[in-house]
Parts: sequence; C-alpha cells; structure tokens
Amino acid sequence: MANIVIVGTQWGDEGKGKIVDLLSDIADVVVRFQGGNNAGHTMVVNGEQFISHLVPSGILQKKKCYIGNGVVVDPQVLIDEMDYLSCRGIDVGPHSLKISELAHLIMPYHKMIDIAREHLKGDLKIGTTGRGIGPCYEDKVSRRGIRFVELIDPELFQDRLLSFLDEKNYYLKNYLSTAPLDPQPIIATFNRYAERLLPYVTNVSVELDQAISAGKQLLFEGAQGTHLDIDHGTYPYVTSSNTVSGNACSGSGIGPGRITGVIGIVKAYTTRVGQGPFPSELFDETGGRIQQKGAEFGATTGRKRRCGWLDMVVLNNSVRLNGLTSLTITKLDVLGGFDHINICTGYEYQGKVLTDFPSSLKVLSKCKPIYETLPGWSEDISNIRIKEDLPRNTRNYLNRIEAFTCLPIGIISVGPGRHETIVVNHPFL
Ligand code: GDP
Ligand code: IMO
Ligand code: MG
Repeated sequence: MANIVIVGTQWGDEGKGKIVDLLSDIADVVVRFQGGNNAGHTMVVNGEQFISHLVPSGILQKKKCYIGNGVVVDPQVLIDEMDYLSCRGIDVGPHSLKISELAHLIMPYHKMIDIAREHLKGDLKIGTTGRGIGPCYEDKVSRRGIRFVELIDPELFQDRLLSFLDEKNYYLKNYLSTAPLDPQPIIATFNRYAERLLPYVTNVSVELDQAISAGKQLLFEGAQGTHLDIDHGTYPYVTSSNTVSGNACSGSGIGPGRITGVIGIVKAYTTRVGQGPFPSELFDETGGRIQQKGAEFGATTGRKRRCGWLDMVVLNNSVRLNGLTSLTITKLDVLGGFDHINICTGYEYQGKVLTDFPSSLKVLSKCKPIYETLPGWSEDISNIRIKEDLPRNTRNYLNRIEAFTCLPIGIISVGPGRHETIVVNHPFL
C-alpha cells in the first residue's frame, strides 16, 4: 500500500492539480494539508476545464477528499466551489468531502488586512493573492484564530470573535485607515456557513488513520511550491505556510512513518507569480514565447506569470528539502519549437560557482545563472504516450534532469488533459 505526497518543486503552478487528478484513478483518498484559496489547481478532463482552490483535486475521480487542519479556509469560497462543482455534475456531498474541525477560518478582516497592507507597501509589496492567507496564519500562530470546531458552536464562535474584534478594529481603523467591522453581520453570516458546513466537519486525523488501517491508499496534495515555503523559500517573498512534504504530516494529523513516497512536480521550465527573486528569469523574447505558448496566467488571480529556464539549483534544493523519491515533468510540450534549451546548472556569484540555493536574498539577487545548452526539438509531442517514442533531443533533456537530480522521472506530462501523459511508473501500482 502506498501513501504518496505531491509537492511543487519551484514557485507553484507546476501542474500539481493535473497530476493529483491523474493519480486519483487509483488512490482512494486525497488530502489537502496546507495553504488555502491562494492555490489554483487546474484539471482538464474530456476537454472540460475545472479549477479548484480548496476542494482536493481527487473530487473529479469521485475519491474521498479531505481538507486537513493545516489548510486555512474561507467558508464562502468553499461553499461557492462546492456549488460550482455540483452545477457541473460533480458530487460534493458530506460522504465525498470532509473538513478538519481544527482547520482555521479566513475571516473578513484577514482579507481586508492582506489587501490594505499590500497597498500600503507599494513597491515593496509581496504580490500576495489578496485572499487573507498570511493574516489568517498569523492569527493561528498568535492564538487568535477561529477554527471549524468553534464555527459549529455558535456561542463559542461569538465569544471568540468578540474577544479580539476590538483589537482588529483598532488596527484596521488607525493603521490601515479602513472602516472598522460590526460584529453582528459577521456572526449572522458565519452562523449560516456553520449550518451548511456542519455535516462536513470531522476529525480528519482519526479518519485518515482508519483509512490507512483499512488498506486504503492516500494521496497528499500540496499547494504552492517549495520556494514559496515560509521557512525554506525566498523569504519574505513566500506564502505563509510550510509547503514542503514534511507538512503533509502535521497538516493532516498522520505520522511520517505512514508516507511511502514523495513526488516532486517539475515544470519543464520555471515560472513565478508575484514579487521575489528568480535567477533564471527571461526578460527577452524567449521568455515571452514561453509565457504565451504555456498560457502562463495565474489560475487564481489571472496575473501573467514570469517565465525562465529550468533551474537545477532550485530543483536540487527541492529534492533535498522534500526527500523526493521521484519526479514528474509537466508542460514538456511547451518547450517544442525552440532551437536550443538552457538548463541552469549553478549560479555565478562574485567569481565563485554556487550550487546550493543561497539563503540571503542579497546574495541571490546578485547570482547570475550558468547555463548548459541543449539542442531543442521541433516535433509536436502532445500525442506521444510512450517515453521511447519521444524525439531524441527530448529524451536527452529528460536524461539530463535525471542525471542532475539522481532521481527517476516517473510521469511526463505533454498537455493539459488528463490523458496527455506518459506514465512510466504509476506510484500506486
Ligand atoms: P497547479 O497550481 O500546480 O495545479 O498548476 P496550475 O493549474 O495553476 O497551472 C498549470 C497550468 O498548466 C494549467 O493551466 C494546466 O491545465 C496546464 N498544464 C498542466 N500540465 C500541462 C502540460 O503538460 N502541458 C500543457 N501545455 N499544459 C499543462
Ligand atoms: P498553487 O497551489 C503560485 C504566491 C503569490 C505571492 C506569494 C504570497 O496554484 O501552485 P499569498 O497570497 O500566499 O500570501 O501570496 O505566494 N502564491 C502562489 N504562486 N501558485 C500558487 O499556488 C500560489 N499561492 C501563493 O503570488 O507571490
Ligand atoms: Mg496554480
């Protein structure tokens, strides 16, 4: 029996949603363990596109889906997403979706603070998604959060809200110059959310333990990417949760001994949304071509994604931080048609070659990528389903990635559709 964690190895949007959907054909249970509706995970099935922000991407394959304690949940967004999926014929009843009673709620003031702070920072902004993610995690850590276990008890909810709303209002009014909030409409709205979501709330840790004991196979769906991790990413240009595989355990309530494999999702090139360093970023026509050919627009905010070559310093940082056991390469089709393709193999910094990702942003911002240049391929590879049928130069590119990382590539994605995929090794078979 396998229990597999999926993580993004770069700065998010690697195609995690597509791969989680694909592997959910065999997995029994799919679990989100961190992040919130800053995530936008895209699945394309029979030409129909679905984007999920909170509901795990196993929902289309009718698998049992869990939102773990490590996720921060905006209840209105969750309800809207459940309604959207239902309208499109996807069952999202309480037997198919469960939410941890320990997951924290994104409150209206979290969104207001996120947006107003970014506005105040001007050029120094992080470029957040404006969904209230950071302020919600701040309140969790400072023990001022509200969880589902409080939401479903109206008295507890009201007591908790009133115990810190004065402080929030002081901050909103005097520091952010925004209007303070009246508690009564918040209480009324959240009581309605509670009624709707009550049947979904459960002890996820206990249910996952039961599932594992019953021989079920679990798939943990990471959000964002390793270099947006609050500890290991390009701080402060990061998100507010741990995005690395270790958090699959604390964010869902299972022990590390249960995990049998960790798959790193690697986009065949690199993208980033929002601010922050990106050593292999391309500012020329090639970057523009990748952006257009890859349709690189954010699935959550619609922002243009910055594009650059594949970076082995970034990738090997992810291999180590996540304990990756295999790689999945996505969007390989997008690189077709380039005369040559570059792989960043190290950084040049003050006459030295760095192969470990620097912690200091000052150092990182002065790093110049060192490239190995490989020949490109002109063939359309989107209809290929067997690795050996790929053009020689495409296989050569993949071989270089395997050689640099010392890891096997188990899955190769050659198009957005579920079946536009070469499965070399299915982790659940
Ligand atoms: P996630 O956040 O990691 O789930 O990734 P996103 O869904 O935000 O972004 C990935 C985008 O690439 C989506 O539009 C996918 O439909 C698309 N996509 C995924 N895999 C492939 C692929 O192999 N080729 C192409 N052309 N598009 C892909
Ligand atoms: P998925 O799961 C790409 C980025 C934002 C910003 C930074 C902080 O689809 O890969 P936040 O709102 O989290 O406080 O923003 O993190 N970011 C993402 N970038 N994909 C994502 O998710 C992201 N989630 C957050 O653009 O730079
Ligand atoms: Mg995304």
